[in-house]
Amino acid sequence: MKIVKTKEEVRAAVKEWKAEGLTVGFVPTMGYLHEGHASLMKLAGENDRVVVSIFVNPMQFGPNEDLASYPRDLERDSSVCEEQGVDLIFNPEPEEMYPQDFSSFVDMTGPTEELCGSSRPGHFKGVCTVVNKLFNIVKPDKAYFGQKDAQQFAVIKRMVRDLDMDLEVVAAPIIREEDGLAKSSRNKYLNKEEREAALILSRSLQLGRDMLEAGETDVAAIVKAIEDKIKTEPLAKIDYVKIVDASSIKPVETVKEQVLVAMAVYIGKTRLIDNFIFEK
Ligand code: PAJ
Repeated sequence: MKIVKTKEEVRAAVKEWKAEGLTVGFVPTMGYLHEGHASLMKLAGENDRVVVSIFVNPMQFGPNEDLASYPRDLERDSSVCEEQGVDLIFNPEPEEMYPQDFSSFVDMTGPTEELCGSSRPGHFKGVCTVVNKLFNIVKPDKAYFGQKDAQQFAVIKRMVRDLDMDLEVVAAPIIREEDGLAKSSRNKYLNKEEREAALILSRSLQLGRDMLEAGETDVAAIVKAIEDKIKTEPLAKIDYVKIVDASSIKPVETVKEQVLVAMAVYIGKTRLIDNFIFEK
């Protein structure tokens, strides 16, 4: 496994592989890797070669967000990648990705407007721009994203379709801790009490799922029940609880086909997200 810091090194490696007729799978990450990321690498193993990027992308963080404190540990990340049989890690510095006079962006309407798009203005512009750049650098046949960030997946899928990007995007299920908490690099911020309180996300989602499975179709009623459950946890503060169409990320009033039930909840200062997709 090689770790490189420049685009040129990535391009040279990929060029050689492609000349040999090998396929390339790509997993973009911000590092501090856990089993969620590892599951994507495992899936990417269906390709002949696997590239992982580790880059805490400044452009997708808002001015009052956790860019500076976002956890970083390249040594540990390298061993996770090594274990999963990754061939190449791309770990650029911000200057490698963004020259000082950088001025081109990928901006999207539609699926970026609700959920995290409305609570984190500019976030998806940063995600789309960096993912587009990474696709141009790595030129993968397939790229792998987690359902943990369901809106991000819908956004990337839309970008690839709208802008005719020549690759396939693959979604992978959410990997959870044994007690149900979705794995996240940001779980590191939680103290013992907050870690316990964080279970309110998966537990309240389970309540929503139970209602849907029992035949409830009234979105307002389901959202209210989920919100009421979250409010029983004193350390939790709701950012949003929403039910939207899973591919357009537009609000729905009644559950008809495939819906995404998604939430963002602050546990203390830490903003956590979780979701599930329900198909009627
Ligand atoms: P990051 O949060 O590091 O996540 C990288 C990938 O891992 C994303 O596709 C995310 O959905 C997936 N992932 C995270 N936790 C997961 C879990 N518990 N189960 C399954 N998959 C999980 O998402 C980003 O980085 C960035 O926005 C990025 C796409 C790299 C652009 O900067």
